[in-house]
Amino acid sequence: MQTKEQLLKKLRPLGQTQLLTFWDELDSEQQQSLSLQIEEIDFDELNALFEHRNDPPASAAMADRAKEPVSFRLSDTREQILPLDDRLYKDYQYNPNEAIAAGEKALRNGKLAIVVVAGGQGTRLDFHHAKGIFPIGPVSGVSLFQIHIERIRAMSKKYGARIPFCIQTSPATHQETIDYFRANHNFGLAEEDVLIFCQSTMPSVDWNDGKVLLAAKDRIARSPDGHGGMLFAINSPQPDSPIPTVAEKGILAELIRRQKEEIFYFQVDNPVIDICSPEFIGYHLLSGSEFSSQVIRKQHPQDRVGNMVLVDGKLNVIEYCDLPDEAAQRRKPDGSLEIWAGSIAVHMMNIDFLRRKASYSSSLPFHIAKKKVPYVVLDPTLKNENGIPLYGSVLKPKTPNAIKYEKFIFDLLPQAKNPIVIEVDIQTCFAPLKNHPDQPTDNPQTVRKQLCDLYRLWLNNIGIRVADNVLVEISPLFANSAKELKQQLEKRSMIPDSGVIEQSVYWQ
Ligand code: UD1
Repeated sequence: MQTKEQLLKKLRPLGQTQLLTFWDELDSEQQQSLSLQIEEIDFDELNALFEHRNDPPASAAMADRAKEPVSFRLSDTREQILPLDDRLYKDYQYNPNEAIAAGEKALRNGKLAIVVVAGGQGTRLDFHHAKGIFPIGPVSGVSLFQIHIERIRAMSKKYGARIPFCIQTSPATHQETIDYFRANHNFGLAEEDVLIFCQSTMPSVDWNDGKVLLAAKDRIARSPDGHGGMLFAINSPQPDSPIPTVAEKGILAELIRRQKEEIFYFQVDNPVIDICSPEFIGYHLLSGSEFSSQVIRKQHPQDRVGNMVLVDGKLNVIEYCDLPDEAAQRRKPDGSLEIWAGSIAVHMMNIDFLRRKASYSSSLPFHIAKKKVPYVVLDPTLKNENGIPLYGSVLKPKTPNAIKYEKFIFDLLPQAKNPIVIEVDIQTCFAPLKNHPDQPTDNPQTVRKQLCDLYRLWLNNIGIRVADNVLVEISPLFANSAKELKQQLEKRSMIPDSGVIEQSVYWQ
């Protein structure tokens, strides 16, 4: 541990001595902890980032040159029971039946692993737990995590292969996630197929002067380093993992040891996602892509999704907040949006590509986000509305006060060989849980409705109607597609005589 004098000597030229404001009040354990936290910070990197905080984001400059990406549509094989007609796909570079066969082969041969990023803080949802624990099942109340795991178990059973499920957490959600999985016996997944790993964090700094904030008198304010932090977290030892290779070397080493070649990646907030869609995997493999992405057709120019675009021949994502209005509004001669492809953050990634990129921290740039970050007040003149001094207490700011530095995984796209874009249907593939119930979109009610609508569609497609105001929920373990649903209902003689479902059901 460094002494106060040593730390002051280091911090003075950096203008960061505020970190020692309460040093003399701390006991020796707290002093030791704070000293270690300070030693871990790369102040040169922080200063350089802060100096460039007002630079326009690189992606905004691309908007003028942005063109629509080349893409093709995923067939709705999960929804339909009819076989795909090859003739419909004559203009496609790859026939969907070939793609499905290639994807199924990779699944059967055990080449796949799955990564879900769940390290975000879910601030907009105002749920003070790991978001994956949120009860979303419209009838059952099961959590996001449970739905995802049941889909994985269904795929694993169908293809007779183990599919390791890697879950990215952050320090705020890590232990809770471990405890939740343990208490629920991993919802039936084998212990060695659950690989929970914790991403890294970055110090949060004051927006005005770049000074690192304190979250407590002995603790530096840090926030997760963005979902792109996954690239580096999977390549770092995870000392608390029960799996020896993960504990010593990290997730990547374990996946390579288990001869996995590709990762199916998604975000924890989307419960309708078609996990490990063989057709999507197949296109990725047939085209020799190192990074493939699913997109939806945007409904409005300002939809809050990343915009998948082609700039100077390279695929890029321009975040909704970085896309100038003029570019967002541009129309094609037929009146449709020119920048129409919204990223739903479902990707296929080649493991060897990730391994190569993970060795260099410069593989992904930092983005700047202005956010509300609680901090210890250091200004002795600051008082609350009752005139009581706030010095030394933690203040929750009402307006954004700080910079969070984040990396985004999709910045790997322009570095990947042969990346491809696949369009999926927004209604059946994208229902993100982002917002508090008092917001009009992407909230618990809209997501539950969309889940019900998906199952309603499957039932309609097999000739069963669902009465109005009736909720239907189907566990992926019962059926994971319309075709499987038909087989299950016939096998169990569960098809209603009237052809109509009159009461809410949860089939599991
Ligand atoms: C994100 C994407 C956007 C996409 C949309 C689809 C970014 C910057 N934007 O938007 O392009 O259209 O999802 O829903 O990614 N996470 C971590 N660690 C972190 C931060 C986030 O694991 O440090 C995880 C979250 O748990 C979540 C996911 O990343 O699963 C996305 O984070 P979120 O903040 O919800 O992204 P959005 O801004 O909604």
